[in-house]
Amino acid sequence: MRIDKYLANMNVGSRKDVHKLIKQGIVMINGEAVKTPKQKVVDTDEVMVGDKKITYQKYHYFLLNKPKGVLSATEDRSQRTVINLLKSEDRYQNLAPVGRLDKDTTGLLLLTNNGQLNHELLAPNKHVDKIYRAKIAGVANEETIKTFAKGMILGDGTQLKPAELKILNQNKDEDSSEIEIKIQEGKYHQIKRMFGACGMKVVELHRLSMGNLTLGNLPIGNYRELSEEEIKTIK
Ligand code: URA
Repeated sequence: MRIDKYLANMNVGSRKDVHKLIKQGIVMINGEAVKTPKQKVVDTDEVMVGDKKITYQKYHYFLLNKPKGVLSATEDRSQRTVINLLKSEDRYQNLAPVGRLDKDTTGLLLLTNNGQLNHELLAPNKHVDKIYRAKIAGVANEETIKTFAKGMILGDGTQLKPAELKILNQNKDEDSSEIEIKIQEGKYHQIKRMFGACGMKVVELHRLSMGNLTLGNLPIGNYRELSEEEIKTIK
């Protein structure tokens, strides 16, 4: 790979920035100053910019605790996206959310620039369990549990896979419930539509986990890199 692409991919700067660094003579491959942006670099080379060693990492994986009010998208003309929540040095090329959470949904969202893995995790035949907590306007009961467990059919005819509903709290006076739900797929507005089909409304929705990935105590709005172990489990 060309050294300018290598450094741009590692977010040292734009290609233009990298060309400037090369001109300044501070980009080194195996101890020798790079003379041209076209110079090739291979995995075993030691690349330095000034006194900073640059280790090539092709793919990046971030776990975000998404706050309300941001879009699960890579860019938008007028609204903030999850990419805007990242530090500029973490905004790697082609970084994108794996699936979507609604603008008003909070919780676990995986971001990666591994397009192939992103695609595979979203494939309809890939069952990645997702667990959500929600506040519901309406009283969820045994009937709701059974309806979800059977695999319900939504208003537009979409057949859903069985979902596991746990009722954490029921308040008949306030006509509200708190629930936890495990779903196997990720259809558009799925949980909102499931409760809607039972005459209830999702008031707050928060994703706790996706497959083996969990948020732990990552504060809302924060993010972290996945560990090697976590990367293995999602693959
Ligand atoms: N289901 C929804 O309705 N919204 C989400 O954001 C995620 C699941």
